[in-house]
Amino acid sequence: MNTMSGSKISKSAIGTIIATHDSPSSRSFTFIVTKETFEKQIHRGSFIQVISEETTVLGVIDEIQKTNRYFARAESVREFERQGRSLTAIFPADRWEFLSAQCRSLGVITNAGVQRANFPVSPGATVYLAEEELLIKFLGLDVTDGIHLGEIPGHKILGKFGLTKLIQKHVAILAISGGGKSYLTSVLIEELLTREKDQGRPAVVLFDTHGEFRNLAEETPEGLDLSSQVQAIPSALFQIATPKLSAFQIAAFQPAMSQVQTRDLNKVINAMFRKYEKPYTIEDIIKEVELDETINTRTKDALSGWLYTLAQTRLFSHNEHPDLQKTIQAGKLLIIDLSEHTSLRSKQMIVAYTLNRIFEMRRKNLIPPTSILVEEAHQFCPDSAMHMAISRSIIETIAREGRKFFTSLVLISQRPINLSTTALSQCNTHIILRIVNPYDLDYIGRSSEGITRELLSQVSTLGVGEALISGAAVNIPLFLKIRPRKTLAHSSSISFTEACKRYD
Ligand SMILES: Nc1ncnc2c1ncn2[C@@H]1O[C@H](COP(=O)(O)OP(=O)(O)OP(=O)(O)O)[C@@H](O)[C@H]1O
Ligand SMILES: [Mg+2]
Repeated sequence: MNTMSGSKISKSAIGTIIATHDSPSSRSFTFIVTKETFEKQIHRGSFIQVISEETTVLGVIDEIQKTNRYFARAESVREFERQGRSLTAIFPADRWEFLSAQCRSLGVITNAGVQRANFPVSPGATVYLAEEELLIKFLGLDVTDGIHLGEIPGHKILGKFGLTKLIQKHVAILAISGGGKSYLTSVLIEELLTREKDQGRPAVVLFDTHGEFRNLAEETPEGLDLSSQVQAIPSALFQIATPKLSAFQIAAFQPAMSQVQTRDLNKVINAMFRKYEKPYTIEDIIKEVELDETINTRTKDALSGWLYTLAQTRLFSHNEHPDLQKTIQAGKLLIIDLSEHTSLRSKQMIVAYTLNRIFEMRRKNLIPPTSILVEEAHQFCPDSAMHMAISRSIIETIAREGRKFFTSLVLISQRPINLSTTALSQCNTHIILRIVNPYDLDYIGRSSEGITRELLSQVSTLGVGEALISGAAVNIPLFLKIRPRKTLAHSSSISFTEACKRYD
């Protein structure tokens, strides 16, 4: 099969490779941009190809430089300027301006497939913009059924990523505050909800910490109406079904509960499980603990105290709301809106309970494959050295084992350094928008596959809506212009000035 080695070259040449003191090498080469291409847009990050008889070398432009030897010597330029004469008036200096592009070899495409480049291209060889079909294959995009997140700058190629490659092994979306994480999350949700049945549709669950995503259910002026697919539950109405909790899960809500207390609680709950015909509540458990004569008084007091504080959160009831098994459905989004709860502990309990239930139901195949999106993930799964969080353990478990049970996580955070290393290292795809904090950048460099120092330096200069995607979803790290969202944005995205005007 010779389709990959350039059978469809219809492109015009964009340049010619030159010999410099250290290139072309197997890793890099420089070319002089043709006069015709000079004024056209070729960018840092554009993909190019060099074709020889046997192979096609694919490369990427790392840097573009202008040179002009008339202006190379500071002394002569100054001398001319001092005499009040311009260099361009005397010499044809404008004709000596060159645009040179420094490129990195990404791989060699032969009849046998893609290989590492281990031989230099030749000086004098012609450079073309990379052919679309070849680039799609090389990058590992799925332009038919993939998740359309954006466009590849400088090429007419959609950034569409295979569903399995993108989400099965978990995703991290990382950026500074205001970097566009929630915007990208909306784009991702739109894509997941508008898939056809035969393309494979997961169920989607989103923990919305700021109540920003309710608008996804509103019909847009263009007529996109996802209302029948979106259900938003305010956390004030969220109810944990007490009978679904084991003593160990309850103990996880009260991390200071001792092992002895947990063991006694386990005994009580096992007995209640047999005895109670109707669903019971935390208050019923407290009653049973107090009646149990085998538990010593001190343990009893402590246990009742722990249970009482849980009851005060008003999160625990006989039955769960929403009924998670009924609400989590293929092609539908369940938003758990945590914005009304001010206590972080209560929010973590809701997240922990929901995720435990989802994971259990997935293991029993009671709900469809599920994609779980966690905004402000550092609040729910912080690094253990920094904070304790009730929901960390289940998030780490799903990060480690979820893949086998088609339970996938999308962790969204503006403080990657505060995120659990266990969870972040299991996110095989990283989508990085603008990040400026050097500690976060350094941390990302160490935890993201294939991100070089050069790419990292570009991350701090990304504009709004620009992203770097790396890891399982793509064969090499790739810059992306996030596509415009189709659903309505929440009013929180209006400006400060606009908010003042509307209030007045
Ligand atoms: N791809 C994009 N195209 C156009 N506008 C965008 C894009 N991404 C983000 N924006 C705009 O930038 C602003 C901030 O975006 P967003 O709310 O998604 O940031 P964020 O990273 O979620 O911030 P925070 O950490 O505060 O939640 C919004 O006004 C949004 O409309
Ligand atoms: Mg946000």
